Amino acid sequence: MTNARDVSDLSAYMVDFGPLNVPLDLRTPFGNERPVELEIGCGKGLFLANAARLRPGHNFLGVEVMRKYARRAADRAAKLGLENVRVACADARAILSRGEPASSLAALHIYFPDPWWKRKHHKRRLFDERLLIAAERLLAPGGTLACATDVEAYFAVMRGLVATHAAFRALPPEPPKTPEHELDYLTNFERKYRLEGRPIWRASYRFEPPNAVVAPPDAACSHAIEGGS
Ligand SMILES: C[S@@+](CC[C@H](N)C(=O)[O-])C[C@H]1O[C@@H](n2cnc3c(N)ncnc32)[C@H](O)[C@@H]1O
Repeated sequence: MTNARDVSDLSAYMVDFGPLNVPLDLRTPFGNERPVELEIGCGKGLFLANAARLRPGHNFLGVEVMRKYARRAADRAAKLGLENVRVACADARAILSRGEPASSLAALHIYFPDPWWKRKHHKRRLFDERLLIAAERLLAPGGTLACATDVEAYFAVMRGLVATHAAFRALPPEPPKTPEHELDYLTNFERKYRLEGRPIWRASYRFEPPNAVVAPPDAACSHAIEGGS
């Protein structure tokens, strides 16, 4: 039996950047000049959908390496008619290293990245020094870097890495919201872990490079908190 999801036309929502070894203009898929927020490892796209509805003046680009999840994220956006969402099925590391132009992102989101528990696999972690170097290049002054994980040890690594990049200023904590319905969560994994009662570790940083003129904080974008919840 054919799965309806597999036959729906998602071409308006799926992005094919072509060869990932050439520069990739992250604004091109949207065809307008609105600020772009990038989520890497977007899974089934709950964050993209909720954030795109909350911030219709921003564009949201999700990158997900697993095609079935990338299509689920695109399908969710398509069903909601969210014209400000695009999903690329690609390795986020290539998108980060080849993304253009500099200072083009309003936010970079990374939620519940795979922890890769074994030490010999740590090099596969998405949140690493390379991500921060890319974030410094791609984020506009005043932009946001937001992350969350259920793995306290990984969170400590993330915070330690960010601490070595002086341009990232930790934003003050906000209490996690009380969900009003089953889709009222940050991401699918946030819902899963909160329902299991696991602590969640979150941080959000504002990119303030030296000598840059930084716009006032965008309250709608500065949502994550630092510390377990
Ligand atoms: C634990 S899941 C979290 C999904 C989603 N962020 C959430 O919170 O519900 C991690 C996701 O990152 C994706 N991922 C892992 N490595 C990736 C990479 N190199 N590029 C893009 N996505 C990746 C996985 O396929 C998976 O969907």
